[in-house]
Amino acid sequence: MKILVTGGAGFIGSHTVDLLLQKGYAVRILDNLTPPVHIEGKPPDYVPRDAEFILGDVRDRAAWERALDGVDAVFHFAAYQDYLTDFSKFFHVNTVGTALLYEIVVEKKLPIQKIVVASSQATYGEGKYACATDGVQFPPLRPVEQLMARDWEPRCPICQQPMQPHVTDEARVMPHNQYAMSKYTQEMLALNFGKRYNIPSAAMRFSITQGPRQSFRNAYSGVLRIFTTRLLFNRAPICYEDGGQLRDYVSVHDVARANVLVLEDARANYQSFNVGGGGATTVAEYARLIARRLDKDLAPEIPGQFRFGDTRHIISDISKLRALGWEPRVSLDAIVDEYIAWAREQPDVRDYYADAEREMLARGTLRTT
Ligand SMILES: NC(=O)c1ccc[n+]([C@@H]2O[C@H](COP(=O)([O-])OP(=O)(O)OC[C@H]3O[C@@H](n4cnc5c(N)ncnc54)[C@H](O)[C@@H]3O)[C@@H](O)[C@H]2O)c1
Repeated sequence: MKILVTGGAGFIGSHTVDLLLQKGYAVRILDNLTPPVHIEGKPPDYVPRDAEFILGDVRDRAAWERALDGVDAVFHFAAYQDYLTDFSKFFHVNTVGTALLYEIVVEKKLPIQKIVVASSQATYGEGKYACATDGVQFPPLRPVEQLMARDWEPRCPICQQPMQPHVTDEARVMPHNQYAMSKYTQEMLALNFGKRYNIPSAAMRFSITQGPRQSFRNAYSGVLRIFTTRLLFNRAPICYEDGGQLRDYVSVHDVARANVLVLEDARANYQSFNVGGGGATTVAEYARLIARRLDKDLAPEIPGQFRFGDTRHIISDISKLRALGWEPRVSLDAIVDEYIAWAREQPDVRDYYADAEREMLARGTLRTT
């Protein structure tokens, strides 16, 4: 069986490629080696020679046609995923690129047995909360005036009181930034076109995925790489808001196993799945854990900045994927240790955060109270 992996030269894609090859699948990669993740103009060394590589863009019909020729299934991971304000690019790459995939499969009647698209926990926006008075709530984006007053907790839309965060299941999404909206439209295309044209499809809503090969140059997101690179240069990690944001972190190895499971299991067809770590850790706790594992005595700095459009707390409920027999296996300590060991070996490690911070401040993505 031959599997096409778009974005296979990236972080999650390449680990999924490794697992597919280990399991005996033939693999083809479609990737445009886009900066800043790639700067060398050639596939990174970790891309296995056993995988066929096609250089091409998922916005380009000819690239898709070439890549889809003779494959049995597709993992569609190529994406634009920054926090910047070039809104249209998110939809061109993430949404239109996916529409093109289904358009070609339908038009050419390609015998594709499964398409798995990479969605995101970001589709939940602020996620699910419980208000002591008004019960379960899905609050909207926190107003900028509230954040400027350093009042971080989402408020009940009915009584305006602070609420308790809940684990968020797949039932309801509330995307509110450009990335999340483009990912949710991608999901809708996949599941609806999949069902309508009988192309088994599934969408994976990854939580914050962690592990080796997360590019240092993509400094706008990826808390482990940002904290690790700062700490390696003896600089304190910087936490936004008050550092109390809850997150669940999942190992890229667990994510790769989830991807292959969904490829192989027909019970996953036409469904969306949370793929998370099963725990809940504050950003400041995570910063302290990384410092401890690096043996650095540097407490996180909390300068009162916030990223407008960010989520306060988000923890995925992973019971749906668990019901298919998947379980996250890699502990948080092991995730951090593996990443640190990898980061120390990289020749291009430097603290990219200062440049990213300047750009995010200039564009109003990052704001100071
Ligand atoms: N890493 C996470 O924590 C996370 C969380 C939720 C969802 N996701 C989703 O998972 C997928 C993989 O993410 P990742 O972290 O591995 O990202 P990554 O940046 O490491 O890899 C993405 C790859 O896609 C390629 N690419 C980008 N634009 C392309 C285009 N127009 N045409 C062809 N190739 C293109 C890049 O060159 C890169 O190799 C993405 O769809 C992302 O939205 C990731």
